[in-house]
Amino acid sequence: MAQMIHSDVERLMLSEEQISVKVKEMAEKLDKLYEGRTPVVVCILKGSVIFYADLIRNMQTPVELDFMCVSSYGSDTVSSGELNIKKDLACDIRGRDVLIVEDIIDSGNTLYKLKKILMERKPASLNIVTLLDKPERRVVPMEPDYTCFEIEDEFVIGYGLDYAEKYRNLPYVGVLKRSVYEK
Ligand code: PRP
Repeated sequence: MAQMIHSDVERLMLSEEQISVKVKEMAEKLDKLYEGRTPVVVCILKGSVIFYADLIRNMQTPVELDFMCVSSYGSDTVSSGELNIKKDLACDIRGRDVLIVEDIIDSGNTLYKLKKILMERKPASLNIVTLLDKPERRVVPMEPDYTCFEIEDEFVIGYGLDYAEKYRNLPYVGVLKRSVYEK
C-alpha cells in the first residue's frame, strides 16, 4: 500500500519498511555484542523514543531500560556550553554495560558532553547507537559506535524527530518543506 505522506513533507527519505529492516539488523548486531550480558539501554528523550522502542523489542538479549533528558547549550560553538541534564538516569551505571540510543547526531555536541559525564560514572562499557548521522555537520570529534543511516544535511522529521515539537509520530523519516520553517 502506498505510504500516505504528510502535506508538510517535501519527500520521503526513509520509509517504514527501510527503517524496520535496518532496526532488525541493528538489533541482531547488538545481541551479538551483548551476548550473556544485560546492558542498561538508555533512551535520550525525546527524539529517540520511537527508535528505542522498536530497537529493544527486536533484541533478544535481556535489557534494563533507563531514560535521560538533556539539552546542549551553545551548540553552535565548539568548546563553550554545558550540558543541561533535565532528567538523569534512575540507575547507577558503575560497572554496567551501557548502550546510549540516539535519534540523530548533528554537531556532536550533545553526545560528546554526555559521554564524558557518563564515563566519569565508571561504566564497564559505553556504546552509542544512532538512527541517523549527519557526519558533515560535525564540530566536535564524536563518532557513534553504530549507525543505522548516514544522511545528507537536510531538515528531517518523523520517527521521533520534530520541528517545533510536531511530526514526531510520523512512522517514516521525511524532509520538511522549507516553506514550513522559513515562514
Ligand atoms: C537532538 C538529538 C540529539 C541532538 C543532536 O535533540 O536528539 O540529542 O539534538 O544534536 P547535536 O549533535 O548537534 O548535539 P534535541 O535537543 O532536538 O531534543 P529532542 O530529542 O527532545 O528533540
